[in-house]
Amino acid sequence: MAEKANTAQITFEGKTQELPILEGTIGPHVIDIAKLYGQSDVFTYDPGFTSTAACKSAITYIDGDAGILLHRGYPIEQLAMNGDFIETCYLLYYGELPNKEQRKTFETAITRHTMVHEQMARLFSGFRRDAHPMAVMVAVVGALSAFYQDSTDITDPRQREIASHRMIAKLPTIAAMAYKYHIGQPFIYPRNDLPYAANFLHMCFAVPAEKYEVNPVLARAMDRIFMLHADHEQNASTSTVRLAGSSGANPFACIAAGIACLWGPAHGGANEAALKMLEEIGTADKIPSFIEKVKDKSSNVRLMGFGHRVYKNYDPRAKIMQETAYEVFDALGVADDPLLEVAKQLEQIALSDQYFIDRKLYPNVDFYSGIILRAMGFPTHMFTVLFALARTVGWISQWKEMIEDPSQRIGRPRQLYVGPTQRDYVKAEKR
Ligand code: CMC
Repeated sequence: MAEKANTAQITFEGKTQELPILEGTIGPHVIDIAKLYGQSDVFTYDPGFTSTAACKSAITYIDGDAGILLHRGYPIEQLAMNGDFIETCYLLYYGELPNKEQRKTFETAITRHTMVHEQMARLFSGFRRDAHPMAVMVAVVGALSAFYQDSTDITDPRQREIASHRMIAKLPTIAAMAYKYHIGQPFIYPRNDLPYAANFLHMCFAVPAEKYEVNPVLARAMDRIFMLHADHEQNASTSTVRLAGSSGANPFACIAAGIACLWGPAHGGANEAALKMLEEIGTADKIPSFIEKVKDKSSNVRLMGFGHRVYKNYDPRAKIMQETAYEVFDALGVADDPLLEVAKQLEQIALSDQYFIDRKLYPNVDFYSGIILRAMGFPTHMFTVLFALARTVGWISQWKEMIEDPSQRIGRPRQLYVGPTQRDYVKAEKR
């Protein structure tokens, strides 16, 4: 394929076709192949979508080689150091940082939607207590469409906005309920006088029998963890949300689909897997033998919390997460936790090992998040739930952007068929 001015050419079976080149504001150009099949009877093949842009988006930009993550143009480091999660939600959803008035109105809207329909509490009792909270999340978030039918008309912008506010507001309540149900404690209602992250900690860790004071360092860390997970352009779960939404499905159903996708260990389940790995390694003297196992392809062992499809450099979120880990461990007086030590040493060894250098494998956001969440008191099976809670604003912003895009059509990938060619049915007695 040769490139000419702002078109590329493809020659197939002697016929040359001009393909437009589209330019984004930053990042690689894309070759627009939308008309390729119509004009030359050939598809493109890209399993895993490593070279395919599936949409236009103005929300998040990642430069994986430089380790840059921008939300609406703002570097994640600046947002994490100066702002908070509510402001990030507004930015992702509406496109600009809010002024004081806009923030107040938005925060009030979110706060007013934190409670869930009382009947939803009864849904939980249908689950086994040992059910994975992600299984509960998929079901309960999907069930929101049964409870909030007045915001499922996706053609009405106001209903879209209300559904979005509802999900940003109710996901912490549902996540906390999933946790409380799992440990057999009563549900704790939201407290609307508390900021978003502090309220979530309250719903998770307060009990009716005692007064609960939210530790401000932990609340700040929780808020930062939410910010660092808020959006990450067209990753697997976001693409799932977009694909589900492209059929016109209601937003609650789309977010439930995103949660299901996030559950996998190669995506949102990685922080749980990373912590399990650190626990299995246990002490720093076991690191070299573990690294050898990772390098031995036949072992199928990966260094969890390392490597990324897009980042071929340090994940910028990982640096902030590492600093947050130190803050939390200091605040809790457990700075000498052996797992933190294992994580630090493992990171240093991996960063200087040729295997990881050659493959550009660096720590990702999940490498430190697991140990922070564990120190805060969350059990491992809640980790992905917290990721889902934080990512909801990213999913819903991407969904809204897609629905409002006039060129939006149902997503329908094609395939390279490699099955049998046409053959005649053989009756059972002759097989
Ligand atoms: N440990 C050891 N080797 C690895 C790792 C790892 N974590 N990740 C990739 N490799 C190797 C892989 O074996 C392959 O080697 P070779 O070229 O010799 O066959 C090479 O690096 C390229 O790997 P890949 O599987 O083609 O890379 P990918 O872009 O398809 O995978 C990934 C990306 C994130 C799935 C992968 O790096 C991984 O499994 N990491 C561990 C899981 C993890 O931490 N996931 C969280 C991602 S960040 C959170 C999120 O966005 O969801």
